[in-house]
Amino acid sequence: MYSKKVMEHFLNPRNKGKLENADAVGRVGNPICGDVMYIYIKVEDNKIVDIGWETMGCAAAIATSSMVSELAKGKSLEDAMKIEKKDIADALEGLPPIKMHCSNLASEGLHKAIKNYLNREKIIEKFKEVVGEEDAKALYMLGISDLKELKDVTLEEIANIISKEGLEKLRKYFKK
Ligand code: FES
Repeated sequence: MYSKKVMEHFLNPRNKGKLENADAVGRVGNPICGDVMYIYIKVEDNKIVDIGWETMGCAAAIATSSMVSELAKGKSLEDAMKIEKKDIADALEGLPPIKMHCSNLASEGLHKAIKNYLNREKIIEKFKEVVGEEDAKALYMLGISDLKELKDVTLEEIANIISKEGLEKLRKYFKK
């Protein structure tokens, strides 16, 4: 059974939704259950000043997204990198053992958003090997970190965020 705290965060999630002016995004998926999570961060002076998330997943995935956002908001990037799945589960007063992997998704999503933020230039440079600069920046905001991950994103998902020309280049590059 879920703790009261999990239920409370599931029913009243904090910081839910896409952050339109985010500086970085972390996109993570769980291959076992197929759930997907996006963590958006806004960074100023090395601190997470705002955070948002979108999660397509179970009740525990929603509650852990909500809790990780509360734990990370206001923290320095360095301290936010130290938030682990156990911290999230503890703050939620525990998760059923078979749901522990859901909190893994939340900490991974946060860590990935931070790493993407720190590696922004490198990631955009990599995408520029395939598409133009504006499209490369748009792809960076998908929350992915390299061309290998980009290969696994469907063209439908990308179609509305990059130019037609960029889409064609991707199609050729990945032979999709
Ligand atoms: S069952 Fe997939 S994240 Fe919880």
